[in-house]
Amino acid sequence: MVVTGRALHAPVRGVLEMFDAAFVVDEGGTIVEIGRAEAAAGQVLMPGMVDLHVHAPQFPQMGQALDVPLWQWLQEKTFPLEARYADPAFAAEVYARLVDCLLDNGTTTAVYFATIHLAATQALAEICLKAGQRALVGRVAQDDAGQCPDWYRDASAEVAEAETRALIAHVRGMAGNEAGLVRPVITPRFIPACTDDLLARLGRLALESGCHVQTHCSESDWEHGYVRDRCAMSDTAALAGFGLLGRHTVLAHGVFVSEADAGVIRAAGSGIAHCPLSNAYFADAVFPLRRMLDAGVNVGLGTDVAGGASPSVLESARHAVTASRQLESGVDARVEAGARGCAGARVSAAEAFWLATAGGGEVLDLPVGVFRVGYQFDAIRVAGGGAASNLRLEAEDGAQDVLQKVIYTAGRQDICDVWVAGRRVGGTGS
Ligand code: GUN
Ligand code: FE
Repeated sequence: MVVTGRALHAPVRGVLEMFDAAFVVDEGGTIVEIGRAEAAAGQVLMPGMVDLHVHAPQFPQMGQALDVPLWQWLQEKTFPLEARYADPAFAAEVYARLVDCLLDNGTTTAVYFATIHLAATQALAEICLKAGQRALVGRVAQDDAGQCPDWYRDASAEVAEAETRALIAHVRGMAGNEAGLVRPVITPRFIPACTDDLLARLGRLALESGCHVQTHCSESDWEHGYVRDRCAMSDTAALAGFGLLGRHTVLAHGVFVSEADAGVIRAAGSGIAHCPLSNAYFADAVFPLRRMLDAGVNVGLGTDVAGGASPSVLESARHAVTASRQLESGVDARVEAGARGCAGARVSAAEAFWLATAGGGEVLDLPVGVFRVGYQFDAIRVAGGGAASNLRLEAEDGAQDVLQKVIYTAGRQDICDVWVAGRRVGGTGS
């Protein structure tokens, strides 16, 4: 297959390349050659977006209940919703809608938290495979009787481990998944929801299985403080002790990680899913993105649906820029300018785009997010100009112009093609 068009990517953080390309893609979705071709005006091909953190079962409450603190939101809103996925029919209906929605928003790789229900989580993996979305799918493990209600808790650490093993076997064995488009991910919800026994079991399973791992880490004052009180150390140190920090670990949020924690995360080769919109509601502070990047930590973006009320990684990129600018300037006008913010905290739109694409690919250690021979052809075609669009790309726009216009003004209506592994799987078609 050959796809032609003006291509724009960020092979290195902060560096943009734009060129008129003909991508030659083999049967397995791998880019085997990048030639030159005439490109139509007003359109651009970009690497598909990587969403490092999305709660599939929370899709129905997107936009709701963002005005209560994290603990209350979990106990009163989110756990009751997630408990409903005991019904596989409900799960199948929601998950099919979600996967289509994310694909049409340009998310070619998604890292999913599901629920504690094995059947529903298997259904999510099957839906991703059928729809053609690259995905990491996790059955949530949470067995702590003090933090999880009786009606939404694993019966024991043994059960949680056994069902996690079953999910891994199921996903790896799905017919049509020989290339590993969909993968299992070991998913302890977060330290407060899990007993030490369960965390240690899942740490051993990570080593044994080679699976990816995901969890929430140092998200808010309450959560970070809870772990300090219980474990007498930070989330990062505790997770490392349980064997849960490896090259294929994704830590959601990480707002309160210290410099020492950053060193541990970097040494382990783990990554952070930065979820700026969710952080505005639940984190109590702005994620120190620049500090983490400077510390050499792998970082990408997440939507955190439905702690974040948007399914679009383009919007996450936009919010990452905004949050970093507010961190830099500071937020209280009564404080003197020099003392108000954190100097040097800003990231550019080009850096946010890198986070949304190549950065996410690096966190996951997958060959996606860059247009490069040997990488997968996971891509979107963005074209503005329609009646429902706020975007207009001009023939004379340079790489920065195109990138900034897309990051700041493009939406789902502008994404006309979405490919994963060379297969067209979404887009408006116009
Ligand atoms: N911490 C534990 N569970 C969750 C969740 O579902 N969303 C967010 N944002 N934080 C969490
Ligand atoms: Fe989350």
